[in-house]
Amino acid sequence: MSVSAVEVIRAKRDGSELTEEQIRWFLDAYTRGAVADEQASALLMAVFFRGMTPAELSVWTDAMIRSGRRLDLSSVPMPTVDKHSTGGVGDKISLPLCPLVAACGVAVPQLSGRGLGHTGGTLDKLESIPGIRTALSGDEFVAQLAEVGAVICAAGPDLAPADRKLYALRDVTGTVESIPLIASSIMSKKIAEGTSGLVLDVKFGSGAFMREVDRARELARTMVGLGDAHGVRTVALLTDMDTPLGRTAGNGLEIRETLEVLEGGGPADVVEITLALAREMLGLVGVDADPAEALRDGRAMDRWRTMVRAQGGDPDARLPVARHIEQVRAERDGVVERVDALAVGIAAWRLGAGRARKEDPVSAAAGVVLHVVQGDRVRAGQTLAELHADDAAHLESGREAFRSAIRVGDTAPQASPLVLERIAGA
Ligand code: URA
Repeated sequence: MSVSAVEVIRAKRDGSELTEEQIRWFLDAYTRGAVADEQASALLMAVFFRGMTPAELSVWTDAMIRSGRRLDLSSVPMPTVDKHSTGGVGDKISLPLCPLVAACGVAVPQLSGRGLGHTGGTLDKLESIPGIRTALSGDEFVAQLAEVGAVICAAGPDLAPADRKLYALRDVTGTVESIPLIASSIMSKKIAEGTSGLVLDVKFGSGAFMREVDRARELARTMVGLGDAHGVRTVALLTDMDTPLGRTAGNGLEIRETLEVLEGGGPADVVEITLALAREMLGLVGVDADPAEALRDGRAMDRWRTMVRAQGGDPDARLPVARHIEQVRAERDGVVERVDALAVGIAAWRLGAGRARKEDPVSAAAGVVLHVVQGDRVRAGQTLAELHADDAAHLESGREAFRSAIRVGDTAPQASPLVLERIAGA
């Protein structure tokens, strides 16, 4: 084969469509270490500016899947459907959703990630439960899925290794925010995981990766197309992330809220999105069950407890509590005009719930508890939120970031729908 890295970079830089041979060669050589990071960086930047044609994107995604192992879930005796969220503030939905859908008879193979920046990661949240393991071998993952129907753990090193390398490079070269690169990154991992169906929660708004709804819609359509082309039935919901989901942002705090939902309570918005996604997941594989009933009658909670135990955790253990808890109070009477997802996410991150670099530790106890939501009437002196931190330095930094998070004024905000649109394949 006579492909060279420089030739591929030049072709993309000058706007030519890459051939299948060029794409497969480049991604394979990069995964093996035969193409240097600086060359891959240059190609990523060229893709960032030039985009990809549907044909290029399809081959690129397929090459990423083939860079590692595709899991075989054929030993799982139930249908399998996974969910992926593009990430947001207070987005703990995977935690109640996975055992809920499992309780309705559909297995959920959740390979999740860690938080970076202002959005939290499901694994960091789960790890606030004492004893829980999130690093399972491929065999453990499949065995738990077959037995319990619910598993939430980290992806192994052999799942789409090309993406692992490329994502780390994108993170430091300003090439994350490219629709074809995001779509191929997410979908290569989900397709390699072996699921037969996938529901995507694509978020837009201040706390989301894609702030503008049009870009979120384009990302959703691109991912749905890739899933369908690879034999994974895929549906996407476009959901609002302008204001945080639920009342908590922070690892252990979000586990607490998850338990409220599994007990049949919890914030209305978290319950609404959880049920909307659960119905889509069940619908994809034709299972006629009512997830609201499984929340009410305790089956979802039972499944959560079984899942946590199967991964070595103690579902009855006390969750960590922060050493410092500070109230944020309203300075005037009025109405809560805005609770800004981005500001709340950054505050939770600074309080210690998130990390700035992949290697950083996170606090299980830190974060934000909201006492109000948009549209609530408040009196001067009333508690709007609590800031939780393990030490005074994090508390101070979080307090500073939270300053613009809640705006109290005179005008009640317009209510907007949580689920804006549903996008399905042809
Ligand atoms: N999550 C991923 O897995 N990949 C991206 O590119 C962005 C978010």
